[in-house]
Amino acid sequence: MNSVEDVDLAHRVAVMGQRAKRVLRDNDRGRYTVPTAKLYPFQWNWDSAFVALGWAEFDPERAWLEVETLLSSQWPSGMVPHIIFWTQEDTYFPGPDVWRANHGPQPSSGISQPPVLASVVRQLATESDTDRVNAMFDGLNRWHQWWHAARDPKGLGVIAISHPWESGRDNLPDWDIPAAAIDASQVGEYERRDTQLVDASMRPHKHDYDRYLALVNFGAEHGWDDAAIAAGNEFWVVDPGITAILLRAERDLLKLGEWVGRDADELTSISTRIERMEGGYDRMWNPEAGTYTSIDLRSGEYATTGTSASFLAPYAGVTERTPALIDELATWSQHCPYLVPSFDPRDSRFEPNRYWRGPVWAMVNYMIATGLAETGEDEWAEKVRLSTRQMMLHSGFPESFSPTTAESVGGLHFAWTAAIWLAWLHKL
Ligand code: DGY
Repeated sequence: MNSVEDVDLAHRVAVMGQRAKRVLRDNDRGRYTVPTAKLYPFQWNWDSAFVALGWAEFDPERAWLEVETLLSSQWPSGMVPHIIFWTQEDTYFPGPDVWRANHGPQPSSGISQPPVLASVVRQLATESDTDRVNAMFDGLNRWHQWWHAARDPKGLGVIAISHPWESGRDNLPDWDIPAAAIDASQVGEYERRDTQLVDASMRPHKHDYDRYLALVNFGAEHGWDDAAIAAGNEFWVVDPGITAILLRAERDLLKLGEWVGRDADELTSISTRIERMEGGYDRMWNPEAGTYTSIDLRSGEYATTGTSASFLAPYAGVTERTPALIDELATWSQHCPYLVPSFDPRDSRFEPNRYWRGPVWAMVNYMIATGLAETGEDEWAEKVRLSTRQMMLHSGFPESFSPTTAESVGGLHFAWTAAIWLAWLHKL
């Protein structure tokens, strides 16, 4: 017989499922889902992809619409933008007038974001979806090709970002030193909206925003030309997050291509890209830090510290260093009760409540736990999942969580956090 605690937990889990669906419905704008109203009132790239995993649990058609809408914003270059401005909203800055990036079918930002889309499509696809997958295949393939050509033009097998926002991990301490080289003296006056909606102590500093805007100005002045950005952008940093996510997405794209029977040539070129990335991945291994770190390609300097993205190697299918990563994760877990903080909790720059300098993000946990489970590290996969569940039971579905208290950090009623609850429903 079930204990009172079991029944109580089962009831809470059922209520959470209803609440999670409510979060998606409230943020639904018809063909896409906003991350959360006001703070992020448009379609965001990787948010949308993760959100589709949540929709898939109770409305698969809506899940497909989400990913198809995202891909419909693709630029002729193959780039899929990080924000798509489907409507005009005055609660967000910087808007389309600042980005000046009208290269695609919709006004958008001029940079991209972690390419989880192909991996999500593989998750969504069931027997009857071959036509849809076939229809999306070229777009996904062109986006992946764009990452290699535009963000790894030297063929290193690791992917650079041109803006902290492109990593999706905006104010990670890793970016502080490379971003300090950015000349923000011409940025002028502007009014931030984020700090009118969320406590400023949870958001990036003004000096971060000045640099974000200086980089936007550089891109806009160069017409978002990929070659000009690769050659002259002051910020050009290899990101272990993007690199892991793209490598994973390439493997998933290859499987999708095989499944729908694409030409051998197309499949071979994906395999070649995978091999290049497998060969390059270890460049990010930093023996002094004992983990994978970012690399500032302008100075050649490695970051000194690991981040949550260091633990994405198993998700990328790169497993040689898993034992060292597990040791590292075990050490982190001794420094904060909830896994996985976005930044090393032993470092003096760790801030448990400031955006990407400490808080836990549910969709990062989802990727980390997926990779660990696939690598046979079930115990740690389960720890990461349980930590995620505890934080959600404690605080619901905020943007992120404090790794020290499980309290909400950032925006509330947040789509991708709710989506991860739903995607993990059968495991929680
Ligand atoms: C923001 O506005 O904080 C977003 O993270 C940019 O993508």
